[in-house]
Amino acid sequence: IFTSVASYREWRRKVAEGKQSVGFVATMGALHEGHLSLGRRSLAANDLTVLSIFVNPAQFAPHEDLATYPRTLPHDLELLSSLSLSVEIKNGAGQLERVTRTPSAVFLPTVPEMYPAGISQDVSEQKGTFVDVKGYGHQMEGRTRPTFFRGVATVVTKLFNAVEPTRTYFGQKDIQQALLLRRMTRDLLLSHPTPENLFIVPTARDSSSKLALSSRNAYLTDNEREHAAPSLYAALQAGRQAWDAGESKESCVQRAYALISETAEKLNSVSGEKVDLKLDYIEMNAPESFDVLGATVTRQQWESEAVQGGNSGDGRAVIFSGAMWVGRTRLIDNIILGNP
Ligand code: PAJ
Repeated sequence: IFTSVASYREWRRKVAEGKQSVGFVATMGALHEGHLSLGRRSLAANDLTVLSIFVNPAQFAPHEDLATYPRTLPHDLELLSSLSLSVEIKNGAGQLERVTRTPSAVFLPTVPEMYPAGISQDVSEQKGTFVDVKGYGHQMEGRTRPTFFRGVATVVTKLFNAVEPTRTYFGQKDIQQALLLRRMTRDLLLSHPTPENLFIVPTARDSSSKLALSSRNAYLTDNEREHAAPSLYAALQAGRQAWDAGESKESCVQRAYALISETAEKLNSVSGEKVDLKLDYIEMNAPESFDVLGATVTRQQWESEAVQGGNSGDGRAVIFSGAMWVGRTRLIDNIILGNP
């Protein structure tokens, strides 16, 4: 466990001499199976795996949940100490050998070291150096959280510079974040990691409700988690069916909205705990530009235009994503439509 950049770097220098690959998973803690699935991907492909836990103040707006964000370090460390993967590797003699890999290091930087000039949630009061991936942080999540991706890109740049990963793993759960960071590594000519070595891992879900796992699910009551929260994924699936059946984007979005309103009505017609369900947005965006698809576009049009070289080379896939409030908890989810 390293709590300073200097102590981590000392370890990293030794590792570099041995030419071992380092896989990296950045997290804000309150670890769950989604984080662990990224960890396993890293264990599978790298000699060593480093995870970081850092609740990054710069990505929370002043009115957001920085103060209450779940902090469960002892439990997180327990989970990480039980994380392991059996892999086959070639030993020195060129023979295949089965070994068990476990995480090598946990990096727990402090706020003063990550933000030497201090860090305010209020962008107008901030001092120091920030990374802004222009043009890709204002759509989808950025519409509701306009300073979020600036905070994420800044902290991940710092983490990459400290950790110096060979490969890194981000979740599809936060698809805009993962794609924006890949673009950032390209734009900034980063070598640790290169853009090719930033991997996107499928969303881990609750096996029965299909609710995307998230640290913020800890805020939900049992009733909210079981009956309200899963409707976001169900809404996306209803939209997908309509898209595959040839309906327009607008119609797919309406179907998704409808499913959520129905769920809200049903929940409030049963007596007992009141559940406040409110959709923030549901939208379809092109995967490269993040441009919003036109209201009347159908799957057939989208894919044929893409084939003809339209849509700025976006290919055939569409990001279908949404955010929803369950009480005071904001949840996000997305699926990829078409043939990515
Ligand atoms: P956090 O929400 O802790 O997520 C850390 C990583 O785990 C992200 O790459 C996220 O996409 C991934 N993840 C979360 N839930 C997942 C799920 N259900 N399935 C698969 N992957 C999942 O995202 C952040 O932290 C921060 O913004 C960070 C990148 C660490 C920068 O502060």
